[in-house]
Amino acid sequence: MTNEINFDEIDLSQGAPAQEPQRQYYFMKKAQILLAEKEAELGRKLQACIKTFGCQMNARDSEKLRGILELIGYELTESEEADFVLYNTCTVRENANLKVYGRLGYLNGLKKKNPHMLISLCGCMMQEPEVIEKLKKSYRFVDLVFGTHNIYKFAELLTTAMESDRTVFDIWKDTDKIVEDLPAERTYTFKSGVNIMFGCNNFCSYCIVPYVRGRERSRRPEDILKEIRTLVADGVKEIMLLGQNVNSYGKNLEEPITFAQLLTEVEKIDGLERIRFMTSHPKDLSEDLIQVMKHSKKICRHLHLPLQSGSTEILRRMNRRYTKEQYLALAERLRSEIPDLSLTTDIIVGFPGETEEDFQETLDVVRKVRYDSAFTFIYSKRTGTPAAAMENQIPEDVVKDRFNRLLTLVQDISREQSLRVQGQTLPVLVESVNEQDSSLVTGRLSNNLLVHFPGDASLIGEIVPVYLKECMGFYYYGERAEA
Ligand code: 5AD
Ligand code: SF4
Repeated sequence: MTNEINFDEIDLSQGAPAQEPQRQYYFMKKAQILLAEKEAELGRKLQACIKTFGCQMNARDSEKLRGILELIGYELTESEEADFVLYNTCTVRENANLKVYGRLGYLNGLKKKNPHMLISLCGCMMQEPEVIEKLKKSYRFVDLVFGTHNIYKFAELLTTAMESDRTVFDIWKDTDKIVEDLPAERTYTFKSGVNIMFGCNNFCSYCIVPYVRGRERSRRPEDILKEIRTLVADGVKEIMLLGQNVNSYGKNLEEPITFAQLLTEVEKIDGLERIRFMTSHPKDLSEDLIQVMKHSKKICRHLHLPLQSGSTEILRRMNRRYTKEQYLALAERLRSEIPDLSLTTDIIVGFPGETEEDFQETLDVVRKVRYDSAFTFIYSKRTGTPAAAMENQIPEDVVKDRFNRLLTLVQDISREQSLRVQGQTLPVLVESVNEQDSSLVTGRLSNNLLVHFPGDASLIGEIVPVYLKECMGFYYYGERAEA
């Protein structure tokens, strides 16, 4: 999606406008000219590559960054052997950071072969002061570094980097600003993420997100609905509403609105077929939301409800603000109100002070809720979070053993849960031609399970009924059925 902007009307002989997003369009035009000059000098097109680490939020941010690169005139490529390479980083667990440092070494090698190459870093990891120090000291070949709060300024920052020999750093501590109406280049024609809020106010004691993504800010409902309508007009059938804690959406708006009310409005958009959202916090999930989901024709039968731990004492120290019993009651309510709902979760193993008994409580919740699938994580100590300073960090061998036991249980249950739809005929949104077998296409059920069935590329983006013939554990083989 690109907004209708007439670049001819932008006058570069004037100074850059102060107002956003006009200011960024001014810099896009400037970058277009700089890039065209470079192309003329080198006698070839210039290529750009963005690699995304981490969550759906980052994936959506990368689509926006790609939209800007495309508008400036870069050819987008998957290969890091490009003239502009940007890593959109994640820092939720430490190994995400280590991966980035490792790959930077590789990029430096590429830059030695292509002196015109610009290397850039953005995203959550850049909001950590220690990271910036390390980059300044040991990774001086990086050309542009920016954070999560000023991502809308990408065109301006890139222009500065193109004109400068020194590394451009621009990191803000926080912001209350939301800039609308910038372009985005979607990865899929038929589905898209839509940010409904930014930041998080929960401060779970293990989590670095509130420090790197800042305080919670909701977009205005009219801006969200306008974006979705534009996406639908452009062929999108499925949207994923994105926020760290969508259940507290709208609380701080001038005219407060609940997430359930927002969903009701989104549902009314003609042509939109499927609505997903991510992530829900159990403490804020309302009965209204359950009812809206239950009666909705468009909201997908999938809810991601992070548990983190099944022990009330660990949950207290995690600052999650619910007990084991409250969580179980909520899960039961969801299962009874929406029987075909797929429930998925996130679980952390090895939080400081976690005893075998605490861990058993987690296994107990997994057995009772019977998750359709679960992401399991080993606790990672994040500097600056309260949990990092807690005593009783758990030895690695104990954590690994617990992690393996949890994973086995989660997978056993997940396999059994997947069988629930065997033999049914259900709508599948086709996403791609199967990578291993090109006579098959791959798509998703409303409950998020993957299905492979015979078909060709013409089906991509279509919703078709598929008979779910054979469950393969975590996915299905199916056959297209009559509509
Ligand atoms: N260590 C391990 N897992 C974490 N998560 C967040 N912070 C940490 C951490 N310090 C997990 C949580 C969250 C998911 C996105 O990442 O389970 O829900
Ligand atoms: Fe992190 Fe908790 Fe906020 Fe999720 S709700 S982003 S786990 S602080």
